[in-house]
Amino acid sequence: MRRAIVRGTGHYLPERIVENSWFEDKLETSDDWIRSRTGIERRHFAAEGQTTSDLGIRAARAALERAGMEIGQIDGIILATSTPDFTFPATATIVQAGLGMSRGFAFDVQAVCAGFVFALANADAMIRAGQADRILVIGAETFSRIMDWTDRSTCVLFGDGAGAVILEAQESEGTSEDRGLLASDLNSDGKYRELLYVDGGVSATGTVGKLRMQGNLVFRHAVEKLASTAQTALGRAGLTAADVDWLVPHQANLRIITATAQKMGLPLDKVVLTVADHGNTSAASIPLALSVADGEGRFAPGDVLLTEAIGGGLSWGAVVLRW
Ligand code: ACO
Repeated sequence: MRRAIVRGTGHYLPERIVENSWFEDKLETSDDWIRSRTGIERRHFAAEGQTTSDLGIRAARAALERAGMEIGQIDGIILATSTPDFTFPATATIVQAGLGMSRGFAFDVQAVCAGFVFALANADAMIRAGQADRILVIGAETFSRIMDWTDRSTCVLFGDGAGAVILEAQESEGTSEDRGLLASDLNSDGKYRELLYVDGGVSATGTVGKLRMQGNLVFRHAVEKLASTAQTALGRAGLTAADVDWLVPHQANLRIITATAQKMGLPLDKVVLTVADHGNTSAASIPLALSVADGEGRFAPGDVLLTEAIGGGLSWGAVVLRW
């Protein structure tokens, strides 16, 4: 059977780094509160005029370089974002043009923080169906554009950035020993919209809007739903938590990551952590974490990686792959 294997990863973080202390004279908050409640120490913010597609293009170029591939070899781009450059066209098409790619498809996926997991699962399905041989899957966000800078319960949490993964078709045995994406699990439940949403949009208000979140309620859903979607995806892959070499979670909050890992019986030294330096970059957080860890040479061929994420919707899911 055809499997989608990872050929390369890459990322880009905007130059401007903002430490927790930056918020201290603007809001009633402290470095200590942010660190102890979230594990976040700093985040990157895009420069004025720097767009989500700018970040995505740089991450994609880095992934192509690491894979030793040319853009002409890519059959399609799937880009996960909730902070597109424009209402339309898809940010993926702007990235496509920026990369000088003039064939194939390019479209966006919108599942907020779970966006990259949804994009990865879609790319995998397209590759297995024979729709494409190589797909560039990108998560790119400029959440700094939708922050309410007077709301201390949200604006300290998020950052900007982009990560990219190149998937390539490979004939495989069809067993859980295969390299590549082995299984996924995707879920949404729209009745939880009020827990995490943006209060503006094209057809509802004609404005961009700002992010609103009931953080403590999202927190409770996160730990329960992340552990359960991860178990479902592992089961579909014919694996258990004991087979996992690396958990690469959505980087929203160190406490959520730790609680989920504990629930699954995974020690923290098997967890890739970037939340301290990146904050929550929504759909970009998993490909950023993958690319950082890959760049450090932490994954060995044959390692089992588990990714999971939850975000606005609520939408949540997990992907299991063998490196
Ligand atoms: N500095 C100081 N105090 C603060 C801050 C801050 N930055 N933010 C909130 N507080 C206060 C609150 O006002 C509250 O004060 P009160 O008790 O006087 O009312 C107190 O801290 C406790 O607030 P909680 O919200 O209960 O704090 P909690 O421990 O739950 O931490 C947090 C808040 C960090 C937001 C946490 O709930 C969380 O991480 N939730 C999940 C967020 C998440 O994972 N989102 C993922 C998806 S994101 C996406 O999809 C776009």
